Amino acid sequence: MQIVQVSEVINETNNIKTIKFKLPVESKPGQFIMVWIPGIDEIPMSLSYSDGITVDNVGEATQAIHALEIGSQIGIKGPYGNGFDLSENNFLLVGGGTGIAALAQAAEKLSQSGKNLRIAIGARTASDLLFQERMKAFGEVHVATDDGSSGHHGFVTQVVEKLIAEKKPDMILACGPEPMMVAVVGLAGDISIQCSLERYMKCGFGICGSCQCGKYTVCKDGPVFSGQQLAEIEDFGKWKRDAAGKPVWF
Ligand SMILES: Cc1cc2nc3c(=O)[nH]c(=O)nc-3n(C[C@H](O)[C@H](O)[C@H](O)COP(=O)(O)OP(=O)(O)OC[C@H]3O[C@@H](n4cnc5c(N)ncnc54)[C@H](O)[C@@H]3O)c2cc1C
Ligand code: FES
Repeated sequence: MQIVQVSEVINETNNIKTIKFKLPVESKPGQFIMVWIPGIDEIPMSLSYSDGITVDNVGEATQAIHALEIGSQIGIKGPYGNGFDLSENNFLLVGGGTGIAALAQAAEKLSQSGKNLRIAIGARTASDLLFQERMKAFGEVHVATDDGSSGHHGFVTQVVEKLIAEKKPDMILACGPEPMMVAVVGLAGDISIQCSLERYMKCGFGICGSCQCGKYTVCKDGPVFSGQQLAEIEDFGKWKRDAAGKPVWF
């Protein structure tokens, strides 16, 4: 565990903040860290920057992260997990809600390597859209909102369908609500795809079994899974375990 000091707090949307810390983490795009908030909890967070996490305020621990100020201290462990394979050339990235946070470093790295990159971002409303401006520096950005307040009026999967029809990518990377990822896997057909999954995590490195998903642990074997692996995971898009190990249906 390393104790790091918060160096910057960025308000991204009404409910999402980026917390940057002084010590960058050497990681592969798609990896995550376990963040310890003293006296509260330890929770998994994708590295949206080498030195930062982007956090949706959904409960006790994330609310405590939102209350951090410059100079506050948190503990971090990791990086954990496998990360994305970025070896192909033409990419389509699909982020739903905070899912784009897990894809952000991949977008940055692909752009630095001169790869062809289209990015589809979905959110409920225009004010919930995350990283729209940041992503424009890395590739062609397409947006969808449920209420039509920005970009396509409807699901991001409808944008994905159009983008695939216009030009088939070699590889799709997706992160977001699991029903969205199931739909994107369906649209991908024979196109290679990698999806980043979320499951309840306690240890973060393959010991406790709380993130078990089919025959895989999401923390160690994932969080990124290929289309072939997803086809073997019966729970994908159907259910996940809560903190007590009980199934929760999507
Ligand atoms: C690999 C991975 C990467 C993630 N990256 C991000 C990210 O970049 N940004 C972001 O906002 N969120 C991310 N999450 C989700 C984040 O971990 C949860 O939102 C957070 O743990 C909620 O904690 P809470 O105490 O605020 O909420 P709670 O009220 O405790 O829970 C709210 C929801 O979060 C889930 N959750 C709670 N604790 C955990 C835990 N230890 N492990 C997994 N899920 C949990 C609960 O099952 C519930 O669905 C990621 C999750 C995983 C597994
Ligand atoms: S979180 Fe313990 S095995 Fe994955």
